[in-house]
Amino acid sequence: MNIVLGITGGIAAYKAPDLVRRLRERGADVQIVMTASAAEFVTETALQAVSGRPIRSNLWDKEAEAAMSHIELARWADVVLIAPATAEVMARIVSGGAPDLLTTICLATEAPIALAPAMNHVMWSNPATQSNREVLEQRGIHILGPAVGSQACGETGAGRMLDPDTIAATVCGLSVGKGEGALVGKTVVITAGPTREAIDPVRYITNRSSGKMGYAVARAAAAQGAGVILVSGPVNLPEPPGIDVHHVTTAAEMYEEAHRHIDKADIFIATAAVADYRPANVPEQKIKKNSENTSIDLVPCPDILASVSTLEDPPFTVGFAAETENVEQYARSKLEKKKLDMIVANQVGHNRGFDRDDNQLSVLWKNGKKEFAEATKIELARDLVELVAERFYAARGADTQPKLTIISTSD
Ligand code: C5P
Repeated sequence: MNIVLGITGGIAAYKAPDLVRRLRERGADVQIVMTASAAEFVTETALQAVSGRPIRSNLWDKEAEAAMSHIELARWADVVLIAPATAEVMARIVSGGAPDLLTTICLATEAPIALAPAMNHVMWSNPATQSNREVLEQRGIHILGPAVGSQACGETGAGRMLDPDTIAATVCGLSVGKGEGALVGKTVVITAGPTREAIDPVRYITNRSSGKMGYAVARAAAAQGAGVILVSGPVNLPEPPGIDVHHVTTAAEMYEEAHRHIDKADIFIATAAVADYRPANVPEQKIKKNSENTSIDLVPCPDILASVSTLEDPPFTVGFAAETENVEQYARSKLEKKKLDMIVANQVGHNRGFDRDDNQLSVLWKNGKKEFAEATKIELARDLVELVAERFYAARGADTQPKLTIISTSD
């Protein structure tokens, strides 16, 4: 796998040599492209030593361009990763400007682009940066993190670069077929996002699910070598490359699509926030308003998860329980009632859970439990998939469990 690693000028650039090592450990060829300000934080000498390739930094370097032009570099890349990505480089990519080698490559490449933002937390939450993030995501650019925690400036908040190992695992998961990881040879079917249930031709019932957790779980499963089939409700997220994505709108469509693939599944993970009810009758014309009170007759939607877990020969089934109160108690009763192998419980509402980049989880199974402390959904998905793989092999009593690709080491 060929990775163009762009390094921009933030303090987190000091972690770049470690990131290069993590990428190379996973078999990637890494060509570094630095901006001038990155050189203020990390030396070319260190980066050249760990990457084993001369560093590129200048668009006008005739010799380097003769060896491999910026267009050839853009074509060579299987993935363009920028880590750390400053607010400035995000803004430049949004504007489509190409004043330097790195942004020129971003404009010229057809490969997936992933950014690991790193900046002061106030800069990250600035509306300008957030609107740039939204535009980048809409254009299919993968935004990895940032993580929450203490920052070099002495403050605490969202803006830390994700740890190099997590970035490396996620980016390598963006290209499939590595033949490594705990789930090699296994197929994982995942539902994600909300569903929409029509009230009339212009209105619908939906919920606040963003799909971020499900998409992160899909990438994490791919990073462990699984073949991943993602059945997605309407979300505003880029399609993860190498993952077989099927888009649906309603709960009934999600049910149909999940069942179309379920006989291939070794593991089924239901992260979707499926509507529990849909309007009983959907008129062909828009319902006219009047001054009277009104009501909508609702009928239950099919429970996809329960229908999979009660199949004659079900895959290993993992459900999610989003609750606003009594989280663990409700989750455990759902685990039993729906006959699941595992359930992942999280608190939602009051600014928690839905449509956020971070979360905290309790994972429950018949005789066990594991807590995952607050972290980004990318980090949680990585840990969750490792645990799912462990429990899957424990449940199947397999003695041929492939080696887990450890993507959470820190040294
Ligand atoms: O019963 P509840 O909706 O709280 O259960 C949540 C779990 O069940 C989630 O894993 C969700 O994806 C799944 N579910 C489903 N089909 C439904 C409702 C929920 O697959 N109709």
